Amino acid sequence: MTREYVYKRFERFWHWMQALLIIFLGFTGFEIHGSIHFFGFEQAVKLHNVAAIAFLVLIIFAVFWHITTGEWRQYLPTRKNLRAQMEYYIFGIFRNAPHPTKKTVLSKLNPLQKIVYAGLKVIVIPLMVMSGLVYMFYRYPQRYEVISLNIAGLKVVATLHTLGAFLLVCFFIAHLYLITTGTTITSNLKAMLTGYEDLPDDESEKSNSLMMEQL
Ligand code: HEM
Repeated sequence: MTREYVYKRFERFWHWMQALLIIFLGFTGFEIHGSIHFFGFEQAVKLHNVAAIAFLVLIIFAVFWHITTGEWRQYLPTRKNLRAQMEYYIFGIFRNAPHPTKKTVLSKLNPLQKIVYAGLKVIVIPLMVMSGLVYMFYRYPQRYEVISLNIAGLKVVATLHTLGAFLLVCFFIAHLYLITTGTTITSNLKAMLTGYEDLPDDESEKSNSLMMEQL
């Protein structure tokens, strides 16, 4: 094993800020929905709106970072090893089988992660942002008598926004479990906190030589 710098500083900051904001948006959102009672409805709406703006700012920086560093390529879905990865999570993991996909600096995600994360970035997060913004500003056209969305139309928006919130809750639960399935129970968590992770030698050498080639 070789210690590699896998997650850069901004990447870790973005990951943890995104996690905090999504948890907070989920918490306040489900209070708005009526599922829990903590801040009180009005306060929950105010806090949800502030966190949503912070989330939007973070998304703008994250999109810029992914494009300028080329890291967006990490999420390009692939069918290579997809079946092996599924079989690993269903059977292999319980028999102590080796991970079918070796993590490298240039390829951090396994094929299942690529699909799920790409789906989050391309479908679920944009759905939340767009439905959330419509939800937030639907009143303004009416106030200035430009009625482009009436209150009846908001039902669809609210349903889509809530559906996205449930998908994020499902993702969060699966994510918590999968964090523990690295080389050791805490290796994935430590890597996202410190940036460093022990990767198998052959693969790290390969990624180093690939990086040298790219330079
Ligand atoms: C930029 C992103 C987001 C924006 C702009 C946004 C905006 C909003 C707004 C304006 C409301 C309605 C508040 C009101 O009744 O006045 C709302 C409700 C809600 N939000 Fe968000 N939100 C965002 C992200 C999220 C995320 C990430 C989650 C979940 C993890 C979430 C979960 C909810 C839920 C569950 C409701 C209640 C829906 C209902 O019962 O109708 N939101 N959001």
